[in-house]
This record gives sequence, structure tokens and C-alpha cells, in this order.
Amino acid sequence: MSETKPRFTALITGASSGIGRDYARYLAARDYDLVLTARRTERLEELAKELKTAFGSKVTVLPMDLIDPAAPAQLATAIKRRRLKIDYLVNNAGYEVVGRYEKAPWQAQADMIQVMVTAVAQLCHIFAPLMAEGGHGRIVNIASVAAFLPGTPSRTLYAPVKAFVLRLSQSLALEFKSRGVNVIAVCPGFTWSEFHDVAGTRNAMNKMPGFVWLEGPRVVNDAHVAVENGKGAVVINGLLYRALVFCFNVLPDNLMNWMSGSDRGNAVKKPAAQNPARAKAKK
Ligand SMILES: NC(=O)c1ccc[n+]([C@@H]2O[C@H](COP(=O)([O-])OP(=O)(O)OC[C@H]3O[C@@H](n4cnc5c(N)ncnc54)[C@H](OP(=O)(O)O)[C@@H]3O)[C@@H](O)[C@H]2O)c1
Repeated sequence: MSETKPRFTALITGASSGIGRDYARYLAARDYDLVLTARRTERLEELAKELKTAFGSKVTVLPMDLIDPAAPAQLATAIKRRRLKIDYLVNNAGYEVVGRYEKAPWQAQADMIQVMVTAVAQLCHIFAPLMAEGGHGRIVNIASVAAFLPGTPSRTLYAPVKAFVLRLSQSLALEFKSRGVNVIAVCPGFTWSEFHDVAGTRNAMNKMPGFVWLEGPRVVNDAHVAVENGKGAVVINGLLYRALVFCFNVLPDNLMNWMSGSDRGNAVKKPAAQNPARAKAKK
């Protein structure tokens, strides 16, 4: 008698476009049921319909705005009420705030921390122990190669936020591995999605050469293979980005900061009069 394989359920945040939507398609094609969340309900409903028709997946749509600090707990309650068990969590929702730090209102910066730090940490805090109780679970946190940069001027919080996601994932991987829960941080480089349209940087991004761009399904495949195999907590997509991260790791932070510093021109120069060498040369 053949045993029926249990159907796992994955919760994906930011499933209405880009990497999150690709993740939903990838897992549905591998017999997962899904809980999809993001703000754009129609997009999620459309995707749910597509995946039910194509793969027979059970797809639950729970629209949420993760800017709301109550959203992660509300999500967990809505999932519990439907008697669903989350076996696989993809913390993917994200965006960047472009421009000098003080130019955006504090609320915009605080919202970014809420969506990309607090909600990620809270969803792990809710679901990782529940997965551990059952002895099986997968958590994929979407970080970025920016996590390895000492700073991202004019996208001020992006590198710090992604570095947090990277380190959180590494800590959780160590805490939960022995209980059957594999946790990874995925660090893509530039990836085709709506990310740069939302940020308003598409025109500048279009000037980047084609070879730097990753396809969403490839990022997802790398992530799924790595989280299933459970051997390392960090995934960097592609040889180019692995080489770059190697360089980021060996170069001193101050040198990297100087190299990426769009604010170099704003360094306060000593007037010639206060600089004896230059004052002498001027005579
Ligand atoms: N694209 C890249 O080059 C790149 C590179 C490295 C890392 N990443 C990371 O990859 C992840 C996915 O981004 P993407 O490239 O797929 O971009 P995307 O196409 O713009 O998708 C972002 C997703 O996040 C959701 N989202 C944004 N704000 C939200 C909020 N307040 N509440 C709930 N959901 C929210 C969006 O849904 P709604 O608008 O419907 O809410 C959307 O589904 C992000 O964490 C990003 O930092 C992207």
C-alpha cells in the first residue's frame, strides 16, 4: 500500500509580486498548500486562482499591511482560526526608502524597520517554535547582498536592515537545527521584480548590464534547495555575487565605506589657511 505524502503549508509574505510570487508558484508546483499575504488583495486572489487551477493547491489569502505592528499576531490568529499549520515560512516582503536619511519623514524609516526587521523577527518567533514542536520546519528569510555592505548611502537603512535579517537567520539556524527546523537567509543581488519600480529607480537600474540581473525563479530554487538540505544558513545567488561578497568580506570596512561613499564630496575640507603644507605651496 503506498503511503500518501503529507501536504505541507507555506506562509509567504510579499506574495503579490516579484520573488514572493515566484516562490508561491514554485512551491505550489511541488504540492505545497499556501497562505499568501501582502497588501494588494486582488493580486493575491488572482495568484490563488492561478495556483488552484494549475496545481490543485489549497491557497488561503490573508491580506495584511505589515507596517501595522499588530499584523504578525493577527496573521497568526487568522491562521490558527482556520486550523492551518505552517511548515514553511518565507519572510520576503520588503522595499527600500531612497534618499538621504533625513529627507524621508521618520515615520517612513520606522515603517521600514517594522516591515523588514520587527515583522520578520516576530513571524520567526511565532512560527519557529510551532514548527519545532512538530519536529519539522523551514524558514527562508530574504535578505540581500547589501547585508554584507558596511553602508548604503541614500538607502540608509537598507544595509542595516538586511544585515539584521542575515544575523537573525544565522542565530535561529543554530537554535532550531536540532529540532528539525532549518533556517536560512537568502542574499540575492539585483533581481527582476517590481522592487526598483516601487523605489522609483527603474531608469537608473536599466543602465546596469544584463549579466548583473538574477531571475526570481532562480533565486527561489537556490533558496529551496538550500533550506531543504540544511547545511548552511546563508545563500548567495550566483558566482558573480559570491565573488563580490568575498571581496566585501576581505576589504576593510573603512575602505569599502570610502569606495561606496556618495558623500565623499561633502567631507569638510580644511581651508588652505589651516593646512600648513598647502598654505606654503600657495606662496
Ligand atoms: N529585487 C531586487 O533587486 C532585490 C535584491 C535583493 C533583495 N531583495 C529583497 O527581496 C524581497 C522581495 O522583493 P522583490 O524584489 O520581489 O520586490 P517586489 O516585486 O516589489 O515585491 C515586494 C513585495 O513586498 C510586499 N510588501 C511591501 N510592503 C509591504 C507591506 N507594508 N505589507 C505587506 N507586504 C508588503 C509587496 O506587496 P504589496 O505592495 O501588495 O503589499 C510585494 O509583494 C525584499 O525583501 C527585497 O528587499 C530584492
